[in-house]
Amino acid sequence: MTTLPFIKWAGGKRRLLPRLLPLVRATGGRYHEPFLGGGAVFFGLAPAGAVLSDANARLINAYVVVRDSVEALVPALSKFTYEKSVFLDTRRSLDAGTEVERAAKLIFLNKTCFNGLYRVNARGEFNVPFGKYVAPTICDADGLRKASTALKRAEIRHEHFERVLERAVAGDTVYFDPPYLPISATSSFTSYTEGGFSLSDHRRLRDVAQALSAQGVRVVISNSAAPAIRALYGDGFSVAEIAAARSINSNGDGRAAVTELIISARLTAPKA
Ligand SMILES: C[S@@+](CC[C@H](N)C(=O)[O-])C[C@H]1O[C@@H](n2cnc3c(N)ncnc32)[C@H](O)[C@@H]1O
Repeated sequence: MTTLPFIKWAGGKRRLLPRLLPLVRATGGRYHEPFLGGGAVFFGLAPAGAVLSDANARLINAYVVVRDSVEALVPALSKFTYEKSVFLDTRRSLDAGTEVERAAKLIFLNKTCFNGLYRVNARGEFNVPFGKYVAPTICDADGLRKASTALKRAEIRHEHFERVLERAVAGDTVYFDPPYLPISATSSFTSYTEGGFSLSDHRRLRDVAQALSAQGVRVVISNSAAPAIRALYGDGFSVAEIAAARSINSNGDGRAAVTELIISARLTAPKA
């Protein structure tokens, strides 16, 4: 059974699944996705065991609620109506209420904000404007229940990506889909977290990938084709260029092909 993400997330990997799934398909161990976002690769792969994590606490709360409390979430989400005043009230009160109420608010905003983006200001306040849609689906009960079933097999954690070092063991697979390093300063379109993700974070990610690979963990990484990223992944990595379609207008239906990278670490230790 194929399951689709229940939330739209910038950088979603649905279109790249035919390229990515063969690289991360189960080899017997657990699957780890430490920059979870919309989780398109996890849902497409449907692994038997997984550890899913992200630094975004609101997002992780929504995943936990979808997994554990979907029958409470569906009525809470169904109450929302597609109106600008409801949107603005919800945006202001995003962090108030029970876990289920907060998950419903995040999903409602995601379905009704401009282009389904997630962006916060320096204080961590969600600041994406109201989006123009024709009758958007706010509560897809069937899709949420399918996502809930898929997530029952996953451990879900709110944490930074480095923690995967404590969790992955030989024979496991880790797929990293970090916020991409912009090709140029002006192509930086969004900040997923208050802190952003700098070149030194990308260097740290490369070091984590090397350490995992040395322990016999299979590692696959997506990133932009920025020269600084190519320079990071030399010895020990295979780098493939792929053409990815990216939204280029406000409706998300105009697409342009951009080159991005799929980087695989060459295993340097025998598998367990
Ligand atoms: C490109 S998105 C992931 C897209 C997702 N894989 C998909 O297919 O929809 C990057 C994610 O990394 C998260 N993130 C940013 N900095 C992080 C960090 N230091 N540790 C863990 N997650 C982080 C963001 O919250 C965001 O959800």
